[in-house]
Amino acid sequence: MGGGVRSSTGGGRSRARASRLRRRSRPDRYVLYEAAVQSVEHDLDFCERVYRRHRGRSFHLLREDFCGTAALAGAWVIRDPANRAWGVDADRGPLVWAARQRLPRLGAAGRRLVLERRDVRSRTRPRVDVVTALNFSYWVFLRRPELIEYFAAARRSLRPDGMLVANAFGGTEAMDVGSERRRVGASTSVAGDRVPGFTYEWEQVAFNPIDHRLRCHIHFRLRDGSRLLRAFRYDWRLWTVPEIREAMAEAGFRASEVYVEGWDDERNRSTQQYRLRTRCENQASWLAFIVGVS
Ligand SMILES: C[S@@+](CC[C@H](N)C(=O)[O-])C[C@H]1O[C@@H](n2cnc3c(N)ncnc32)[C@H](O)[C@@H]1O
Repeated sequence: MGGGVRSSTGGGRSRARASRLRRRSRPDRYVLYEAAVQSVEHDLDFCERVYRRHRGRSFHLLREDFCGTAALAGAWVIRDPANRAWGVDADRGPLVWAARQRLPRLGAAGRRLVLERRDVRSRTRPRVDVVTALNFSYWVFLRRPELIEYFAAARRSLRPDGMLVANAFGGTEAMDVGSERRRVGASTSVAGDRVPGFTYEWEQVAFNPIDHRLRCHIHFRLRDGSRLLRAFRYDWRLWTVPEIREAMAEAGFRASEVYVEGWDDERNRSTQQYRLRTRCENQASWLAFIVGVS
């Protein structure tokens, strides 16, 4: 009987250990977020194209606001040895993750990336050419004065020829509750680990038409059957394009432009091309970059 107890305890321990090891080897939520949500090379190509279109030259100084794990800022410094980047976030967690996982992989380029823990509404020096506010992160500002305060701080941090590159989504489904799943193929994490394919789910949990508060969750479902439910939660205001442009104007931007993502109806997928528009057809959902020109 005693042997049975020992054996059962030992089996329990080894099962617990195996499960701990499996958990440890599972990608963490930041690795999954980078693989599922971010397209940093594409975003940087867009910033370079629009900057060159306006100024006729390239730029080198970029600040990634709401940087989280600083994927965009990291990709910027490895594009060109003349590039420098600042990543700003209020949360220590993703910044520590970036310092541990991303900086060592950047080698010498990492010395041209500065991570700063602070509120994006505080002014910084040196001034930069481009400030980015991507993946709708600035929707954390729920009231117009806060949004204008942020845009004004971004504008004051720009050099005279600088630009703020933000993005937005909308369409008839943007005000609906519901969820959408997408398979994400296998990839490699910033630390060089293989990330097996997984399922990403975007869930719009609640929308209030009175104040445009939109609550969303991100869930991940892994191949081993485990799930990271509510891995990220957002409590945003769904800002409309005219509201964003008016706030940019009030914050002192000379002009603003809207670049809308193209949609291939036949293949039912994005063309990955963003074109400057003053009119467009409303769709079930659309994505756009909104550029504030100083
Ligand atoms: C959705 S993540 C963005 C991650 C990544 N940069 C991207 O584009 O997908 C939003 C980040 O904004 C940060 N954040 C929210 N409010 C902030 C504020 N007022 N100042 C600085 N960072 C803020 C959060 O800590 C979080 O890491």
